[in-house]
Amino acid sequence: MKKTILITGGAGFIGSHVIRRFVNNYPDYLVVNADKLTYAGNLENLTDIETKKNYLFEKIDIVNKQSVLDLFKKYCFDGIIHLAAESHVDRSITGPDEFVFTNIIGTVNLLNSALNSWKNSPEGKLFYHISTDEVYGSLGKDGLFTEQTAYDPKSPYSASKASSDHMVRAYNHTFGIPVVISNCSNNYGPNQFPEKLIPLAINNIKKNKTFPVYGKWVNILDFLYVEDHASAIDHIFHRGKVGDTYNIGGNNEWKNIDLILLLCRIMDKKLNRPSGTSEKLITYVKDRPGHDLRYAIDSSKLQKELGWSPLPEFADGLEKTVEWYLTNGKWLERVLSGDYGKYYDLMYSGR
Ligand code: NAD
Ligand code: DAU
Repeated sequence: MKKTILITGGAGFIGSHVIRRFVNNYPDYLVVNADKLTYAGNLENLTDIETKKNYLFEKIDIVNKQSVLDLFKKYCFDGIIHLAAESHVDRSITGPDEFVFTNIIGTVNLLNSALNSWKNSPEGKLFYHISTDEVYGSLGKDGLFTEQTAYDPKSPYSASKASSDHMVRAYNHTFGIPVVISNCSNNYGPNQFPEKLIPLAINNIKKNKTFPVYGKWVNILDFLYVEDHASAIDHIFHRGKVGDTYNIGGNNEWKNIDLILLLCRIMDKKLNRPSGTSEKLITYVKDRPGHDLRYAIDSSKLQKELGWSPLPEFADGLEKTVEWYLTNGKWLERVLSGDYGKYYDLMYSGR
């Protein structure tokens, strides 16, 4: 194998798409997926590639310093793509501690191990930290987040991600560890855990259950198809400039309520229900505390310098996503019942 790559959080939503892309496109890389398998980690996302020769899974908690040290003793990593995180804003409001442990301490554990293992030969190595546009806080009616926008996180989730970004940059400046960071907008697509807006709405509409839209229906987000994020990560991992930051976004701003209304129309069509049926399931509830008003990303640096561009039109991507959830009803039911957690014991516990 030419390179050994560590991908953390590879059993999660975005991580599983990144793992699939790297395992399939780079047969001469050994891809090691290190994941704790929290409620958000699902190895059933990776059944199509799990038997490939260039893929290995390691169940570890990055908060456990010794487990991380042991992992770095077992493998000589050339590159790290760090996605493992607590990722849901609402959970960070009801329980911030886990976000501090995983997102900050877990990142520092990985940085320390990378530093230790690369100290004599940092050339050609890369610690790639995956972050979010939410570190920039909220925009007013105009403007876009650029790589120069000052950090202004508003939720415990975004504050923990901002903190991890600062630690990654500090390890670069202080210890010379080669790093790169990207900050991406909202992802959507197959395999997203149904606590997030789009899969939650799809699941509830399918079951004729109501679902909540927070606040005054004015929040604006920039949505990107998950495979576009995986392709941006591929571009940045291979061509990004060490020490730099890249913003990733779909140039695709949607008011929450408009997005939900489009989704309702697609669901009515796919489920052969009279038009207007799904819309009746929307319930308007109290706002999320600290809810950012508007996110929008300027990704021109990534497009110009590294030649990346997003692929599907949003309506096509959303339709593809709906189709995926409707044809993968079993995946969804196993996630909702918790049965997906048994897959690890079945496949890996005897190793
Ligand atoms: P996710 O919640 O679907 O997956 C997170 C993964 O990390 C899971 O597999 C989980 O088991 C693993 N994990 C959690 N704690 C761990 C620990 N202590 N040790 C090892 N593994 C652990 O998240 P996602 O939506 O795929 O996001 C992945 C990354 O991308 C995160 O860093 C997130 O901040 C970032 N991001 C997400 C989005 C988005 O829209 N989802 C946008 C921009 C950036
Ligand atoms: O912007 C990038 C971020 O996008 C990532 O860093 C996070 O990891 C990811 O979870 C996502 O965060 P959001 O908070 O934007 O995603 P969520 O799906 O939770 O919410 C999207 C929008 O929909 C937000 O404005 C809140 C709203 N919402 C959400 C839920 C779950 C609702 O109105 N109702 C809901 O039930």
